[in-house]
Amino acid sequence: SCSRDQMIIDAGQRHFGAVGCKSCGMIYTAGSPEDEAQHIQHHERFLEALRYVGWKKERVVAEFWDGKIVLILPADPKYAVKKAEDVREIVDNELGFQQVALSCPAKTKTYLFVSNEKTIVGCLVAESIKQAFRVLAEPVVAAQSPGQDPLQQHRAWRCSTRPEPAVCGVSRIWVLGLARRKGVARRMVDVVRSTFMYGSYLSTEEIAFSDPTPDGKLFATRYCGT
Ligand code: ACO
Ligand code: ZN
Repeated sequence: SCSRDQMIIDAGQRHFGAVGCKSCGMIYTAGSPEDEAQHIQHHERFLEALRYVGWKKERVVAEFWDGKIVLILPADPKYAVKKAEDVREIVDNELGFQQVALSCPAKTKTYLFVSNEKTIVGCLVAESIKQAFRVLAEPVVAAQSPGQDPLQQHRAWRCSTRPEPAVCGVSRIWVLGLARRKGVARRMVDVVRSTFMYGSYLSTEEIAFSDPTPDGKLFATRYCGT
């Protein structure tokens, strides 16, 4: 009958089509066995990399009611460095970086925000730098050319041509989708400012965000109060 057909169509619409997973971020076709299998595989790898069991000599640099920030340095034990690398891989994947090498691995500091549920919900990779180019307030309105990646257009920020002295470069900052807008990124940058250089508190001018995404730029301009 007619009403029965209608019912089948409605059920189909609920189970087929592109869906985005709210926790691992993967977009896949629900109803396609290959896609669903691939999603389950990605989902489990993702959550496994973000699971934080911890270790005895972990370097806790800040504690909050909803979690803590752990700092990992290049000379730390293998398991700690491996954890930092696994998380960085996830972050690079989400930022669309393809195997971007660290400019100086020996000077890289990785800050992980670990929730009370033992999940890594934030990651910040900081590197020593000497100078940076200031991102100017208004982006250049790139000429609309068909087929151009809209993200690349948004990334065409105007930069000053004169380098300014800086101390710390934030090469990656990332917060888990479900944990955004709760001050996780802000607290990670606060902690970088007080712990990056021993004995001094860095000003916002001494911190530079490299190649910011639209999200990254909204956060950085708000954080730096520009
Ligand atoms: N839109 C508008 N304002 C924002 C946004 C946004 N998406 N994100 C942050 N802000 C501003 C707000 O004013 C916010 O305060 P409010 O929530 O009280 O209004 C303030 O910045 C502080 O934000 P946090 O809560 O500390 O930021 P959050 O923990 O959500 O993390 C981040 C921000 C890291 C940019 C997150 O959105 C993210 O991981 N995005 C995807 C990855 C990404 O693009 N990272 C930046 C790459 S650039 C680089 O790595 C150098
Ligand atoms: Zn998922």
